[in-house]
Amino acid sequence: MLFEMNKILVLLAVVSCITSKPTVLVTDEPVCGYASCHPVNESMINVHIIPHSHDDVGWLKTVDQYYYNEVQQILSSVVIALREDPARRFIQVETAFFYMWWNQQNKEVQAQVQQLVNEGRLEIVNGAWSMNDEAAVHYQSTIDQFTLGLKFLEDNLGRCARPKTSWQIDTFGHSREHASLVSQFGMDGLFFARFDYRDRAKRLDEKTMDMLWTGSANLGAYLRRSDSNVFTSALYRHYSPPPKFCFDIVCQDEPIVTDEDSFEYNWERRVNEFADFVKEQSEQYLTNNIVITMGDDFQYQAASSYYNNIDKLIEGFKKFNPKINGKEANLIYSTPACYTKAVHDYVQDNKIQLDVKTDDFLPYADEPPRVWTGYFTSRPQSKKLERISNNILQVSKQLSALVGKPYESNAALSQALGVMQHHDAITGTETDEVERDYHRQLSQGIEKSTGEVGNAFSAILGLPGDLNLTSCTRLNVSVCALTKKDEYNLVIYNPLARAVSHYVQVPADRYGKYEVQGPDGVVVENRVTDLIDYFGEVPDRVEGTLIFKAEDLPPLGYKVYKIKKLSNEEKQIKTNIKEAVDRLGFEDKYVSFDTTTGELKSITIFGRTLEVTQKFYYYSSSDVSNPWIFKPEDEKIGAIELPLNSNTDVLVNDGDLVREIRQRFDFGISTIIQIIRIYKDEDFIEFDWLIAPVQISKGGKEIVTRYTAKMVDPNDEFFTDANGREMIRRKKNYRPTYDYTDEEPQSGNYYPVNTRMMVKNDSYEFAVLTDRSQGGTSLEPGQIELMVARQVVNGLNENEFDTPLKVRGSHYITHGVSANGDGTRSMAAIERDIALRKLLQPWLFFTLDDVNVKEQSFLSKELPSNVHLLTLDSWNSTGNTILIRLEHVLEQDEDPELSKQVTVDLTGLFKPFTIKTMKEYTLAANIPLEESERLEWAQLEAVDESSILSKQKRLSRKETDLGITLEPMQIRTFIATVEFV
Ligand SMILES: *[C@@H]1O[C@H](CO)[C@@H](O)[C@H](O)[C@H]1NC(C)=O
Ligand SMILES: *[C@@H]1O[C@H](CO)[C@@H](O)[C@H](O)[C@H]1NC(C)=O
Ligand SMILES: *[C@@H]1O[C@H](CO)[C@@H](O)[C@H](O)[C@H]1NC(C)=O
Ligand SMILES: [Zn+2]
Repeated sequence: MLFEMNKILVLLAVVSCITSKPTVLVTDEPVCGYASCHPVNESMINVHIIPHSHDDVGWLKTVDQYYYNEVQQILSSVVIALREDPARRFIQVETAFFYMWWNQQNKEVQAQVQQLVNEGRLEIVNGAWSMNDEAAVHYQSTIDQFTLGLKFLEDNLGRCARPKTSWQIDTFGHSREHASLVSQFGMDGLFFARFDYRDRAKRLDEKTMDMLWTGSANLGAYLRRSDSNVFTSALYRHYSPPPKFCFDIVCQDEPIVTDEDSFEYNWERRVNEFADFVKEQSEQYLTNNIVITMGDDFQYQAASSYYNNIDKLIEGFKKFNPKINGKEANLIYSTPACYTKAVHDYVQDNKIQLDVKTDDFLPYADEPPRVWTGYFTSRPQSKKLERISNNILQVSKQLSALVGKPYESNAALSQALGVMQHHDAITGTETDEVERDYHRQLSQGIEKSTGEVGNAFSAILGLPGDLNLTSCTRLNVSVCALTKKDEYNLVIYNPLARAVSHYVQVPADRYGKYEVQGPDGVVVENRVTDLIDYFGEVPDRVEGTLIFKAEDLPPLGYKVYKIKKLSNEEKQIKTNIKEAVDRLGFEDKYVSFDTTTGELKSITIFGRTLEVTQKFYYYSSSDVSNPWIFKPEDEKIGAIELPLNSNTDVLVNDGDLVREIRQRFDFGISTIIQIIRIYKDEDFIEFDWLIAPVQISKGGKEIVTRYTAKMVDPNDEFFTDANGREMIRRKKNYRPTYDYTDEEPQSGNYYPVNTRMMVKNDSYEFAVLTDRSQGGTSLEPGQIELMVARQVVNGLNENEFDTPLKVRGSHYITHGVSANGDGTRSMAAIERDIALRKLLQPWLFFTLDDVNVKEQSFLSKELPSNVHLLTLDSWNSTGNTILIRLEHVLEQDEDPELSKQVTVDLTGLFKPFTIKTMKEYTLAANIPLEESERLEWAQLEAVDESSILSKQKRLSRKETDLGITLEPMQIRTFIATVEFV
């Protein structure tokens, strides 16, 4: 209501401008954004006081525990304190909490909040569902969780709630991709506190704490440079208040007493103490602006205690006027946006150049020897569950959109995944209890979403009742009730916008003989293999795996397969126990082994052989290792090799579909079983590993696998992906922008790997793709080391089914000539293709019901291989508006052909509906492109004045024009109105 009012007021104001008649209504116009900032004075030191509360969306307590114990009090008390004085400011960050609180307020409080937001007194920053981690997250989930939070804010509070800055103050290091996404969200600033202590020292010394960050090595080539960079500010010392100035009720610091008659009077002294801090800090920042954060974890439950004291500081500075290096200080309530604007204006006015950052802030070390590289791997099963959940979420969103279900259909799962991106969730740094709560939220979300999907399928297929579809989320431990039936149907849905073939693996009776019938009734080849492990402790598991190839699953479509068990007795598995296997695989794709040791010797793929060895190792953890930090006990010893048990248990399965060899590594404290699997028609060799419980009775263990390729003249560099998108160059014992001291020869060289890590020489490359995020390094040329599991004494001792957790996962290995991997595509194109097929796998729905239409695509044609349908989702409660994101999946120089600009035509593309109009938005879909205005930085534009202003082109596009052009790595976001056929 209020928002509607404001729209009218804006309208009136605009009209009044045109007719040049003054109107009293103008004062009621929302003055949020930069117009609402307290004025700065360029002759003074401007001290931006930013009151804030850092509220973790789960960590030591669950989300609900934090909400009911602390956060609801914080929000309520802040609103009261803000209303007491229009000068006061507060920033609200985590929308997961704001959502809970908002829904519990009455209309009156909601209207008060609307007013505070409209007047810039309550500023929304970040606005995402949670303050996401940046090392272990995938970009798809970051975009989704920003979209989720920002949509809630836009729908309930309107334009003044659009955040101008990203506030990542507690996240443990910062990725370049996050900076890039922030620019694409249309934000102007990015703030954080945690980065390497050597980097911090250098930046303080050189006054480069404020900088411009080029988050993408690609976008700047065709975007205006201001649009592909983001102003970034590193906070002076963490995000707490200056020492002795914490005024929260939980703090013991001396309150400010202004009553001269009181024996406790301390006003002038306290002002001078604060001035000392201001002086110290301002000497290390480039402009005459500094940020002073006033707040900390879960503070402001009694907000007035902070505000009363800050009020007195501000007043005291006016009264006593302490000089900061001869200048007056201007203490103001401020926000990250107001600071960004003030620095921007100062820099423009004084023609100052800011430092330009082009790499990232990973890994993070707060002090020696504490390098925060353990959380890249911590709680590996949780990291995998997050990927599986995203897979089903994308499938559910697509199917909901395709049948015109409302936006809310997948709310539970979207919210659970939003929470999961939090910097104490996906990181694995939470307690066991909180982890269980995260997983509970995910599984409830999955249950709801798959229910919606069954319903959607029924609608698509015109079935009278709901199709009873079941999803099995525990296929990795071979649990799925329906697969115990003698006959069932498998509906295999492909969420990619191009056809894929997929090797389906479902639990089966290891002694059973099965028949698999394709949608056309033709029987397809299948085989049953033993499980990697019997998961004896897991209830309801079965002990075999049925494998068959689902050929050419249609783009955004499905095929139905019928699975029949023919007999019980026949042991179909041909298991050869051989003393020595020298070679396994197919004609042009095989692995070979050293016949004496049983170790891997080489991998042949695309007809090319590369010598590759692979072994498991472990680091003994020191006491410093914890969920965040990886610190080996003895750096000189390094990783200790785990012997391959070459005499027993080398099982070989031969077949026409897939061939595999099973290896065992026993080492007292644990057992590792590994299957090397070669699929007849895949572009990779799969290494499927099971780390049986890591016993930590004798201290923590951090288990790694090392693939060492013998390449000619390998570079001393390696490459890791940033959140699954652009690749970043890494070099051992080296950081591009500061002097690196290599006290931590292993952990200091670890980087996050989200989907892909690669080593290469001038023309050839060797890559490992992962099925979840994990830490990785390359300590020797040609080597790829990935940490797959860790249990440490301090706070990370995972159990499941009353035994230490087993960790199962896969690596996908490929190699070839960089420019021309398989004769048609570069290796980069092949690797990205594998990564996408693993991220958004065909989803298996199990059902006993008969499905009459056994094969169908919801697209009239597949998209080109370099275009990815990143998002297809319903956008409002009527279902006739659809969110569509298209992404060019290659970087500029990755492939001579596929890296080129590409245009797709969406006319008639989606079979269930016709697109009538498509309006372009910023990446999180909260700001229409024509309303997005970012601060311009003259320094950037001067460098590249000729940069094509593709935004201009995008703006002049007609909403009925459905031909969409994409540049390398570009994502374009549209809201379409559609008509269902
Ligand atoms: C800015 O500060 C200077 C020096 O303290 C003062 O002389 C001037 O009046 C101030 N300007 C404004 C607009 O307040
Ligand atoms: C759907 O199938 C599951 C698994 O067979 C079964 O437990 C459930 O009762 C079925 N629901 C309906 C509504 O038929
Ligand atoms: C859904 O979106 C369409 C197109 O923007 C709009 O006309 C309609 O009013 C919206 N419905 C709701 C309930 O928001
Ligand atoms: Zn935190």
